[in-house]
Amino acid sequence: MAERSAPVGVMDSGVGGLSVLAEIQRLLPNESLLYVADCGHVPYGEKSPDYIRQRCRHIAGFFRDQGAKAMVLACNTATVAAVADLRERYPDWPLVGMEPAVKPAAAATRSGVVGVLATTGTLQSAKFAALLDRFACDVRVVTQPCPGLVERIEAGDLTSAHLRQLLCSYVQPLLDAGCDTLILGCTHYPFLRPMLADMVPADVAIIDTGAAVARQLERLLAARSLLAAAPARPVRFWSSADPQALRSVLPTLWQADAAVLPLALKKKCEKLRFFTELSFQRRFLC
Ligand code: DGL
Repeated sequence: MAERSAPVGVMDSGVGGLSVLAEIQRLLPNESLLYVADCGHVPYGEKSPDYIRQRCRHIAGFFRDQGAKAMVLACNTATVAAVADLRERYPDWPLVGMEPAVKPAAAATRSGVVGVLATTGTLQSAKFAALLDRFACDVRVVTQPCPGLVERIEAGDLTSAHLRQLLCSYVQPLLDAGCDTLILGCTHYPFLRPMLADMVPADVAIIDTGAAVARQLERLLAARSLLAAAPARPVRFWSSADPQALRSVLPTLWQADAAVLPLALKKKCEKLRFFTELSFQRRFLC
């Protein structure tokens, strides 16, 4: 039986989930938060659903070992690949995933054209297709995969000329198509809001789902009487790559510097997967 004071685990392929973490902390300041950045495996956007599922299983196991009372997949790409699998494994564990804000965007658009910036993995998923079928029948949705943006943000770059040029090459076609509502369908992209605000006309709405995810977490915890009552411990951070690399971008992407620990158990898990794949190849491919 989880306790109210237990932490909540939040994960992303890298630093993108920090945009969601900030919303959770704003809404639920009493919650103690654990953050795993899977920086050793970023970007998820160009990887197979199976690969991402394995990573999410591993990280979910890590949060459970830490005694987490709930988990937030602060990543659209991880959600489409892994949320169903995790829910099946842990049916009684509160789990919050995220999806591009198609429903609110379809309700908000006046031009009838909505643009979605997201990863290739999210846009190609059956879950995203189902989201469009459900909520976007009456509007035109123009999608735009954005390879390269995540890598710039992971490096702490929110302002360079190269980034501006890349972002513009993704946004301009959506504006040319008549979009008056832009969905940020990847948790890395809210960090580009200041640059986007310079790039798009003032009457174009820019929507992300970080705050909605925080509200959903609040609902799930409240329904189980698991909302923390006492003030939180400071956020604890882990990275599956060099912890120093994450630490060096925290002052830009998070409110402050903080210690970052290496994500444990990774080697054991990956060694196992490596040998399983090797024995599969030996048996069937040689
Ligand atoms: N931040 C992630 C998302 O919301 C994925 C970025 C990536 O690793 O490609 O989709």
